[in-house]
Amino acid sequence: MPSTKLISTVKNLLLATVFILLSSFIIIKHKDTSIINRVFDTAVKQYTGMLEEAKDLSYYPRSTDENGKLKQVGINDWTGGFWPGSLWYVYEYTQDDFWKQSALKWTKSLEKNQYNNTHHDLGFMMYCSYGNALRLTKDSTFSPILIQSAKSLISRYSPQVKSIKSWDERKSYNKKHTWKFPVIIDNMMNLELLFFASNQTKDPVYRDIAIKHAETAMRNHVRPDYSSFHMINYDERTGEVLDRKTVQGFSDNSLWARGQAWAVYGFTVVYRETKDERFLVTAQKMADFYLNNPKLPQDKIPFWDFNTGEKGYVPEWDYDPNQYQPTPKDASASAIMASALLELCTYSNQKLKAKYFNEAEIMLETLSSKKYLAKPGTNNHFLLKSSVGNMPRKSEVNVPIIYADYYFLEALLRYKNLKEN
Ligand code: GLY
Repeated sequence: MPSTKLISTVKNLLLATVFILLSSFIIIKHKDTSIINRVFDTAVKQYTGMLEEAKDLSYYPRSTDENGKLKQVGINDWTGGFWPGSLWYVYEYTQDDFWKQSALKWTKSLEKNQYNNTHHDLGFMMYCSYGNALRLTKDSTFSPILIQSAKSLISRYSPQVKSIKSWDERKSYNKKHTWKFPVIIDNMMNLELLFFASNQTKDPVYRDIAIKHAETAMRNHVRPDYSSFHMINYDERTGEVLDRKTVQGFSDNSLWARGQAWAVYGFTVVYRETKDERFLVTAQKMADFYLNNPKLPQDKIPFWDFNTGEKGYVPEWDYDPNQYQPTPKDASASAIMASALLELCTYSNQKLKAKYFNEAEIMLETLSSKKYLAKPGTNNHFLLKSSVGNMPRKSEVNVPIIYADYYFLEALLRYKNLKEN
């Protein structure tokens, strides 16, 4: 008899456990789905308003200006591809032809940028727009435009430096330095376009340059502790490193949050395309440096720079600790990092996979909260509040910025995909 009792108790316990597991699964699913639905519902409302306000196709929604109005920029600006790209993600989610037509219209407006070789941002401008257009419509007429964009980008490559020059010669903000061959960590993001071009044309030239650039970045931008330098200035004749500086971070030796996010994302892409373990390890260690950093707040939205105002970090710009209080956080860095982690987790072992997925999930939950996600009808039609564009220039501080929206939507689609498969 006692054994029958025991069997029935065990049975009941098992049933109760199954019930608890199932209901928590349903709750988690429900919660997650509600985040994705809510953000895309908000995007539909916000971007409907944006399309009504921003009608000039040569003037791309970017941010909020000093007067609190919508800030739009011309075709040469590095951010032009994010608006059509965001429209593509809304189309991908809704499958509504209205969003496809809107995305197409804005994408096509960028066509002449395929010949733009005045800076390195062709990947951002063309792959976020035309790359998504090709992926979602399969219209092969977009392919030659992307290939020409890749050609323009590699025209900035130096075989001596083994890098693509980010910007033409420029002076530092304080005019004390002149940089003739500056390369910024952000440039890792433009390499995806080059891998695409080689995959399409079967010509390895683009891919070889992307790999050389990534190897040089791994050698010179990545510090021994896996934080990163924002900018390296090279001697174009010899390839020698002349300066290790920051342009948008707090100081040369600090950790600029968005720069680290660009690096994790970029090295993850290079690993995807090469399956070379060195790039995977670099992406993982750089992610770990960021995620394990005691200065990363609990809600996972980083301060714009991890070392603002700290002893041992000397800014070369007119830093006033009282100008922005509390220290601004950068939602864009978090959106980029979340998206990067949701790809990186798929290449990682079980332990790291769980870690990267969970951290990205917290980032997305925070970004979807009232603190960061705009109430429809506010925020100049953007989704996310509170990014920091360029603190040393006091430009775009605590405002919405289109690339935060773009990577947030991308991350949510990656998250949805991982949840469903
Ligand atoms: N590529 C410039 C930035 O991240 O602000």
